[in-house]
Amino acid sequence: MLSFAIETARSAGALLLAGLERHRSLELKSAYEVVTEVDRESEALIVSAIRHAFPNHAILAEEGGGIERTSPFLWLIDPLDGTNNYAHGFPFFAVSIALMEDGELRLGVVFDPLRDELFFAERGAGAWRNDQRLHVSDTPALAASLVSTGFPYDFATTTDNNARQFTRIQARTQGVRRAGSAALDLAYVASGRLDAHWELRLKPWDTAAGALLVLEAGGRVSDWHGQPWNPWNDRLVASNGRIHDELIAVLAE
Ligand code: IPD
Ligand code: CA
Ligand code: CA
Repeated sequence: MLSFAIETARSAGALLLAGLERHRSLELKSAYEVVTEVDRESEALIVSAIRHAFPNHAILAEEGGGIERTSPFLWLIDPLDGTNNYAHGFPFFAVSIALMEDGELRLGVVFDPLRDELFFAERGAGAWRNDQRLHVSDTPALAASLVSTGFPYDFATTTDNNARQFTRIQARTQGVRRAGSAALDLAYVASGRLDAHWELRLKPWDTAAGALLVLEAGGRVSDWHGQPWNPWNDRLVASNGRIHDELIAVLAE
């Protein structure tokens, strides 16, 4: 199943690359959320590959192409994480595929086709970027850290928009990046390129694969109170472990 997920993420990534110059037009899929034609094409490719290979598995996919089924296996698919970036030609987006078995994360794959970086993790077997084993950073303190976050699409019309937390954490770290793909941000935490990522109002397909990458690279993932996290918990903190409690304390201020 891991080789299948990797191969499928690579095919979807190739489709994203091929569409990059052609399909830049953003459409609104709800009052705030954006989508492109390529999000749907990528999802169709992934869902049809899963249906063909594993006809009895359940699928939860962002653009609605999923399949509800009673099965111990559930695939969580973000066919294009970083749609806004993609549509503007900002080079930070990815395909994210995760597999849960009996409610536990088993596999996670995040593929950045522009850099040809394939991040993958299998529960209990570690996390990798291409052929390199991944380890979270050893940054010991929040004051020495580089972290990332994101904002919800309806930022302008809600106060539950991460603005206050962003201001506080920006003042207590070496910097906060908002690159626009939660799945890749988490892959970067797993790689030690970032020391932590926090965000609110995320969806299971944004975080499932990336969270397993962080855990298998030796990091910690929790909710905003330091409590156990699962992909349906929309507030997440993922870190190298060492700065986790400090970050949670600043979020709680
Ligand atoms: C978005 C990205 C972004 C995050 C948003 C997500 P999408 O996903 O992950 O970084 O801040 O909350 O919705 O719409 O590009 O798949
Ligand atoms: Ca997403
Ligand atoms: Ca998406």
